Amino acid sequence: MLKIAVIPGDGTGPEVINEGLKVLNATSQKTGFKYETQVYDFGGERFKRTGEILPDSVLHELKQFDAIYLGAIGHPDVKPGILEKGILLKLRFELDQYINLRPVKLYPGVETPLKDKGPEDIDFVVVRENTEGLYTGSGGFLKKGTPDEVALQTSINTRKGVERCIRYAYEYTRKRNKSKTLTLCGKTNVLTYAFDLWERVFYEVGDKYYPDIKKDYAHVDATCMWMVKNPEWFDVIVTDNMFGDIITDLGAMIQGGMGIASGGNINPDGVSMFEPIGGSAPKYTGKNLINPMASISAAQMMLSILGEEKASQIMENAIVKVLSTKLKSLQAGKMGYSTTEVGDLVCEEIVKV
Ligand code: IPM
Ligand code: MN
Repeated sequence: MLKIAVIPGDGTGPEVINEGLKVLNATSQKTGFKYETQVYDFGGERFKRTGEILPDSVLHELKQFDAIYLGAIGHPDVKPGILEKGILLKLRFELDQYINLRPVKLYPGVETPLKDKGPEDIDFVVVRENTEGLYTGSGGFLKKGTPDEVALQTSINTRKGVERCIRYAYEYTRKRNKSKTLTLCGKTNVLTYAFDLWERVFYEVGDKYYPDIKKDYAHVDATCMWMVKNPEWFDVIVTDNMFGDIITDLGAMIQGGMGIASGGNINPDGVSMFEPIGGSAPKYTGKNLINPMASISAAQMMLSILGEEKASQIMENAIVKVLSTKLKSLQAGKMGYSTTEVGDLVCEEIVKV
């Protein structure tokens, strides 16, 4: 019995999570895997009502689950940073979800802004370090508010943190078994300490344990360029937290936008968390217009990471079918169907299998 904690969150989060749960249910009836869910109402509304963000007792409770399924965090009435840091980043750090796994896959029938590129060209995965770098909150102000003010924001890169991320990326590349190429995305020409460490670990670990994997390096700016010009060159990209954040938004756009992009916050030995990466999209809240595919995709990735490969495959096939034969666009309000109808369409495909 899989135990799944559900945090629908803010804005359109609850709407897209509902569709994901609907599809999860249809899939479980088809393939027989058993699961139970428990819903937690953390997010902007609860914060406004009670002042509570994420109590430690709940954090402790969440550690008992097999996975967390998250909608979106971010509320227009709450100052940016409070909920993101207090919920999303806190969960990533406290549950030691040290990998942020973001597939960039253009499905058939989905439009990409890249001219002359198709599904055979856009199919790679970004392995983003998820607990270190510029995200640790290390830094501070000196003489704040004065003309002599100093603001420091330090990128923390530990040997242990870098190595476990790089090892995961190598393992993933091997298992994925596509062109067996792992690209380190960094900035060794300027960030000569942080990426010196990354580069050394990348080749040390790679040469010793992964001789079968081709190793490549690209600066982050060049990575952006190649992702647009020659996305077919990439198989798996490994990078730090900040660069990973940035390049995966670019990745989301070339795979058809936020309507389809999902990610997993992975602790290979603990509790992982799966989410659509598009945010809470407050202006669409409650309108039944938002695209739930990213959230459905996140649920599919959750099943795959939990070892339910068959169920995950059935779900992905259904997603592909609906994307290629039904949806007019992936944009909210332009799909030709409502949010709930898109969920229904995916369920229909699953029932048919
Ligand atoms: C993401 C988001 C988060 C991040 C924000 C909401 C803190 O942009 O998951 O990519 O920067 O990691
Ligand atoms: Mn981001």
